[in-house]
Amino acid sequence: MKHLTLRRPDDWHVHLRDGEMLQRVLPDTAKRFARAIVMPNLKPPVRTTADAQAYRERILAALPSGMSFDPLMTLYLTDRTSADDILLAKASGCVHGIKYYPAGATTNSDAGLTRIQLGDDAFAAMQACGMPLLIHGEVTDPSVDVFDREAVFIERYLIPLMQRFPRLKIVLEHITTQQAADFVAQAPANLAATITPHHLLYNRNALFRGGLRPHHYCLPVLKRETHRLALLRAATSGNPKFFLGTDSAPHPRHDKESACGCAGIYSAHAAIELYAEAFEQADALSRLEDFASHFGADFYELPYNQEHITLVQQTRHLPDTWPAGDETLVPLRAGEAVHWQLVD
Ligand code: DOR
Ligand code: ZN
Repeated sequence: MKHLTLRRPDDWHVHLRDGEMLQRVLPDTAKRFARAIVMPNLKPPVRTTADAQAYRERILAALPSGMSFDPLMTLYLTDRTSADDILLAKASGCVHGIKYYPAGATTNSDAGLTRIQLGDDAFAAMQACGMPLLIHGEVTDPSVDVFDREAVFIERYLIPLMQRFPRLKIVLEHITTQQAADFVAQAPANLAATITPHHLLYNRNALFRGGLRPHHYCLPVLKRETHRLALLRAATSGNPKFFLGTDSAPHPRHDKESACGCAGIYSAHAAIELYAEAFEQADALSRLEDFASHFGADFYELPYNQEHITLVQQTRHLPDTWPAGDETLVPLRAGEAVHWQLVD
C-alpha cells in the first residue's frame, strides 16, 4: 500500500462558520491542519480586531479536547475600515490578513468594498506594516460573463492595485483560470495564490453531470478543463507562489438545494486526501509537501509545523449526508469514494 508522510500542513483559506456548524466542521480541519487562515464572512462580518479575538475564542472553545489547532484570524474589509483598524490588527498578533470581497461577489459579501478606491487608506497601512491583503478576485459587473469574472478582475482591478501599492503583500485567493495562474507566476514575489482541491479535481462539467449539481457550485465557479489543467500545473510546479487553501465552505443542505442555491463546497473532511489525489494525477506526489506545508508558511512568514501526518492510498466511501446540529451537510464526494486516507 502506498504511504505518504508530510510535515503537518496548513489551510491558508477556510470557512469555519459559527455555532453548531462550527462545532461540526472544526474537527475535520483540525485533524488535518495545524493552522488555518479563517475567513471573516460571518453574519455580521468580522470587522474589527475585537471581533476577530472573540471569534478566535469561540473556535478554540469548539475544539474537541486533545486536539491542537491554531486559528489565524482575518478581518473583513469594508468601506469604513481605517488605517488605524489595520495597525491595531497588526499589533494584536492575532490577525494575519485582511479579506477584500467586492460587494456582491459571493456568499456574505454584501458588506464588502463598494469601490476598490475606498480601500486605499487601508491598503496603504497594510503595505506599510506588512499585513497581507487576501482578495476574492472577481468583478461584480453583471454584464461580464460569469466564467470571465476572474480574468477581467485581474485586468481591471488587480493590475492597477499593484501599481498603486507595489509592495503590498497580496494573496489572490482560490484561483480558477489559466489567466490567473499565468499572471501570478510572472508577478513579483509579493503576489501569491491559493488553489482549492475542487478546482484541481473538477471542471465545469461537474455542475451539470446528469442534471444540475448544486453541491458542485462555488465561487469562483468551476471552469473548463484547460483551466483545471493549468491550475494543476501551477500547483505541482514547485513555484512557492502557489499554496494550499481549501476554501472549504459548508452550508446547510436546504440552502444549496434551493431555487437560488448558494455558493460553497465542503471539503474539509477529506481536504489533504483530495489534494493527494490531484497531485498523484499529475505524477507529482513528491511536490505535495512544499505546496501544503511550506510555501504558505513562507509567504505568511510563519514557522514550519513540527509534527507530521501520514496518508495511505486506500478507498473510503462517504455517506450521502452528515447531520450538522439541526441541519444537514452534504460533503464533496457525497455517496462516492475518496482514494487516500489519513492515518490516525
Ligand atoms: O463558494 C464560495 N463560498 N465562495 C466564496 O467566495 C465564499 C464561500 C462561502 O462563504 O460560502
Ligand atoms: Zn472562501
